[in-house]
Amino acid sequence: MSAKGVYIPKFVLVSFTVGVLGYYVVRFPLLPLSSETKLSLGYSRESLLNMTMRVAKHGFVAREYSVETKDGYVLGLQRIQTGGSVKGGKKVPVLLMHGLLQSAASWLDAGPGAGLAYLLAKDRDVWLGNVRGSHYSRRHTTLDPDSSSTYWQFSVDEIGRYDVPALIEKVLNETGSETLTYIGFSQGAGTYFIMCSELPHYCEKANLMIALAPAARQTNTKSVLYRFLTESMTYLEGVLTSLGVQEVFSKGALSQEFLAFFCQLSSLSTKICEMGKDLLDSLDSLHPGSITNDTIRTLFSNFPAGTSVHNLARYGQSMKSEYFQKFDYGQQKNLVLYGSEEPPKYNLSAVTVPILAIYGRNDGLVDTKDVQWLLQRLPNVKESMEVKDPLWNHLDVTYSQYTGEMIFPKINEYLNKYDYAS
Ligand SMILES: *[C@@H]1O[C@H](CO)[C@@H](O)[C@H](O)[C@H]1NC(C)=O
Ligand SMILES: *[C@@H]1O[C@H](CO)[C@@H](O)[C@H](O)[C@H]1NC(C)=O
Ligand SMILES: *[C@@H]1O[C@H](CO)[C@@H](O)[C@H](O)[C@H]1NC(C)=O
Ligand SMILES: *[C@@H]1O[C@H](CO)[C@@H](O)[C@H](O)[C@H]1NC(C)=O
Repeated sequence: MSAKGVYIPKFVLVSFTVGVLGYYVVRFPLLPLSSETKLSLGYSRESLLNMTMRVAKHGFVAREYSVETKDGYVLGLQRIQTGGSVKGGKKVPVLLMHGLLQSAASWLDAGPGAGLAYLLAKDRDVWLGNVRGSHYSRRHTTLDPDSSSTYWQFSVDEIGRYDVPALIEKVLNETGSETLTYIGFSQGAGTYFIMCSELPHYCEKANLMIALAPAARQTNTKSVLYRFLTESMTYLEGVLTSLGVQEVFSKGALSQEFLAFFCQLSSLSTKICEMGKDLLDSLDSLHPGSITNDTIRTLFSNFPAGTSVHNLARYGQSMKSEYFQKFDYGQQKNLVLYGSEEPPKYNLSAVTVPILAIYGRNDGLVDTKDVQWLLQRLPNVKESMEVKDPLWNHLDVTYSQYTGEMIFPKINEYLNKYDYAS
C-alpha cells in the first residue's frame, strides 16, 4: 500500500461523501428522472428496463416472489428460467446471493454472455435473492424504511440469521425440491456461514455451497477506500444515527443517480463515465479491460442498491478484527446482548456442507490471506480454486466479461457433480 502510493480520485471521495450525507431522508425531488427524459438524454435502453423486462429481452422468463422473514422484513426474490419451463428432472435449483451494496440485478449486468444468472439459467432453475435494505427488499410488514430507524438496525448478522434461511425455505417450498445449491458472492457467502453457525439445520438444506470471493474476516483487505468508508462508519454510526442517517448508498439516492446520469449521457460518457470506472477501480483493484463499457453503464443503473450504516460499521469492525464474529457493541452492551464482554465468534465448524471456493489473487476487497484463513476453518471444502487470471479482482465475479471462461466452467462442473443422484 505505502510503497506504491494510493491515489483516490477526489471525485470518488466527494461522491462517497454525497452518498453518505448529501441525501438520505427524502428522495431527491428532481431525480429519478422519468424514463422518457432518460431516453431522450441518451441512456441505454437496457439500463431503463426493470429486471423482468431485461431478462425477457434476452429470451428468458423472470418471475417475482416476495418472502417474509421471521422478523418481518419483506424480501424480493426473482426466478429466471428459459422459455418459461422449469428445468426440473435431475437438476437442483440454484440460489444466487449478491454482495454488499448490490442487488439481484448485479447477476445480469454483464449481459447474457457473461452474467452468471444467464449462464446458469440456460440449463437450470435459477433464483436470485435480495437482502434487507437493498432496492428490491426495502419493505417490512410493520416498519416503514423511510421513517423507521428500527428498520435500519441490521447488519450481516441479521441477514444471515433471518434473510438467508427465509429465502432458502421459499425456494424449496416453491420448487418442491428437498435441496438447493447456494452460490454466494462475498457478503452472500459470509451470511451463509453465519446462518450455518446460528441455525445449523438450514445449512444442511444445501447440497453444495459455492463461495465466490467469500467475505468473513477481512483483516487483510487492501482497498484503502473501502477501509476508509467502512472504518469511518464504526466511528460515525452514533453521530449519523442521531442525525437520522441510517440508510446509505440507496438506489435512487443522489450519489447513485449522479453516477447513472453521467455514465449514461452517451455524448459525454467516454470522458465522464471514466469516473464510474475510477470509482470501481479505487474500491477494488485494477483489472484493465475486464469490465466492458456497456456493463459499466448498465451496472450504475442499479448499483449501489443500498444498505444500512450499521452494516457498513459491521464491515469496518471486520477489517480490524482477527475473528469472524458478531457486532461489537462495547463491553457493557455486549454483556447485555450476548452475556459476554466480547462478541461471540461464529462457529465455522458448523458449516458442514460441501464447499467449492473460488477467489482471485488481485481481490482488493476480500484478500486471499483472509480467504485462506476462512478455508482452513471450514470442515468440508472440496476444492478451492484461485482464478487463473492473476488480475482477477473482486467485482469481476459479477461484472467481468470473462466469467464464462474464468469461473463458470468450475461452477458448472460442481453443479453437475452434485445434481440429484440418478
Ligand atoms: C416491469 O415492467 C413491466 C412493463 O412496464 C411491468 O409490466 C412489470 O410489472 C414490471 N415488473 C416489476 C417487478 O416491476
Ligand atoms: C414454507 O412452507 C411451510 C409449510 O407449508 C410454511 O410453514 C413456511 O412458512 C413456508 N416458508 C416460506 C418462506 O414460504
Ligand atoms: C471504453 O471507454 C473508454 C473511455 O472511457 C475508451 O477509451 C474505450 O475505447 C472504450 N472501449 C470500447 C470497447 O468502446
Ligand atoms: C460448532 O459446530 C460443531 C459442528 O456442528 C459442533 O460440533 C460444535 O459443538 C460447535 N461448537 C460450538 C462452540 O458451538
